[in-house]
Amino acid sequence: MEERPLRTPVFAANWKMNLGPRAAAEYMRTFLECFPRRDDRTVAFFLPALSFHAAADALRDRPEILLGVQNIHWEEKGAFTGESSAPIAREAGARLALVGHSERRHIFGERDEESGRKCEAAVRAGLVPVLCVGETLEERERGETESVVLRQLRAGIAPLDEHATATMLVAYEPVWAIGTGRTARPEDASTVHEVIRRELRARVGEPAARVPILYGGSVNTGNVASLLAARDMDGVLVGGASLDPRGWAAIAST
Ligand code: PGA
Repeated sequence: MEERPLRTPVFAANWKMNLGPRAAAEYMRTFLECFPRRDDRTVAFFLPALSFHAAADALRDRPEILLGVQNIHWEEKGAFTGESSAPIAREAGARLALVGHSERRHIFGERDEESGRKCEAAVRAGLVPVLCVGETLEERERGETESVVLRQLRAGIAPLDEHATATMLVAYEPVWAIGTGRTARPEDASTVHEVIRRELRARVGEPAARVPILYGGSVNTGNVASLLAARDMDGVLVGGASLDPRGWAAIAST
């Protein structure tokens, strides 16, 4: 990955377990028609690994659009049935890797410490990690938002050196807002982004100002502008609303 920081705002689509190779290729054709090249932002797709090849092929004339994987294993290779490593993802064309998405944490039992190993593996392979952090509804109601987010953030960046920390991305995704239609209020998201920024600054100093911090959780065409206008908001990570290529082109054009 080049050294310069990613252009902000960052519009990242997380397809989750949707859109196979054929649908991915069709999607990209429609999306590219609706979304002419722009140099004032970064657009990225986190897609199922098996759809990677089809999407990369459809995007071959648009190298400014980045692809990423939704998960990696921390080892480079070996007897880990069902897993893909960071070097394999890099070779397949990925530039970014989601780490610690709440579905990985809550459905698959991924622990904080694994996020750190995955971030480290991503960096070693030349991928930029996008570390996802966020509290559950119960944690928010108990007033633990800040402590949960900081615990996840610290564990994720623990093995990284200053340079790697200053060139990664963080996505704040409150679990109660993901796929529920309940979006965080822009000012509440900003408050958490400031907590994240402060911790990054304590770790790496001024370069922390350039780490893109994204918000995710029920972002759609109707709320994206007000979220992006909020303080300390560098982009969005979008699940459900990214599955329609025209809708996603509209969001990424905000
Ligand atoms: P959502 O998902 O936009 O469907 O809420 C966001 C995410 O999980 O990254």
